[in-house]
Amino acid sequence: MDVKTIGVLTSGGDAPGMNAAVRSVVRSASKKGMRVLGVRRGYNGLIHGDMVEMDMRSVSDIIQRGGTILYTARCPEFRYEEGILKAKKTCEEVGIDGMVVIGGDGSFRGAADLSARGVPCVGLPGTIDNDIACTEYTIGYDTAMNTAVEMVDKLRDTAQSHDRCSVVEVMGRHAGHIALNAGIACGATYILMPEKKYDLDDIVEKMKLTQMSGKHHFIIMVAEGIGNTTEIANYIESKTGIESRATILGHVQRGGNPTVRDRVVASQMGHYAVELLSKGIGNRVVGMQNSKIVDFDIQEALSMKKTIDEDLYQVAYDISF
Ligand code: ADP
Ligand code: F6P
Repeated sequence: MDVKTIGVLTSGGDAPGMNAAVRSVVRSASKKGMRVLGVRRGYNGLIHGDMVEMDMRSVSDIIQRGGTILYTARCPEFRYEEGILKAKKTCEEVGIDGMVVIGGDGSFRGAADLSARGVPCVGLPGTIDNDIACTEYTIGYDTAMNTAVEMVDKLRDTAQSHDRCSVVEVMGRHAGHIALNAGIACGATYILMPEKKYDLDDIVEKMKLTQMSGKHHFIIMVAEGIGNTTEIANYIESKTGIESRATILGHVQRGGNPTVRDRVVASQMGHYAVELLSKGIGNRVVGMQNSKIVDFDIQEALSMKKTIDEDLYQVAYDISF
């Protein structure tokens, strides 16, 4: 099939580097002589025909910007047959014969549904959580971790000055990848994440032990999927007698200028997606394996399971006494 017009959208939570991915898709497709339509607010734009013509210059000056110029949204309507058929009709009306969908697992489910109705879609992993199984890296992950570490470095200054414990919650939805890596990078005494069983009394013991060897202040890193961070801080304070403060970093982790890694990977993945579509290949998710860009069937990708890096967890544990 000769793909002449492709659409591109961002869906689910925004992630730094999505703009770099959009830019790469638009430029790669334009270079091949394809027409590109930027679809606004995720699948909503496809359902309601909210889109804009894009060319090489439409994506000038965005590689460095966080967020997404195409806006993003969660679109409940697209979970149902009626919504998908409306989107397919829009694609027929405007001539879209291939789509690039930048988002997470939910967005890929939508992309699979649309591919099955005859509009070939290629998914690009865009989420700060790095929780997509078929890829070792997702666009936005590096920036989010760097933001988290920058924030915790500031918290450490005040924890150190007051001999306190700073209990910091980072994002990640049900995954602890941000917590584990940011936790190591900011010297956390303990890292709590959904993939590892934990006992709050182990934290208390570790804090008391290290206190005996002269440690005065503590960083405890908590992945949001764990539970109530304020309650954890209160428990630690009640058992150790060390003043503890909870900080929830929140959406600050989703914003900001993308790092070099996010810009480069987004550019590579966007280019790769256009290559696939230009060959008429759809129903694929682009990922990274052993630092190489690869692609998978969407259903196969969605059936994969991601685990945390146990060796890295052990490193984190051993060097935080
Ligand atoms: P993410 O893509 O980051 O995982 P969501 O899970 O919120 O984010 O999904 C983003 C959007 O993808 C949803 O708002 C919806 O439009 C679409 N979507 C999610 N799940 C499905 C599904 N099972 N079938 C079709 N579309 C879906
Ligand atoms: O998936 C990205 C993410 O920021 C998660 O880390 C977090 O759980 C969720 O989205 C927050 O969603 P919302 O922006 O709807 O509050």
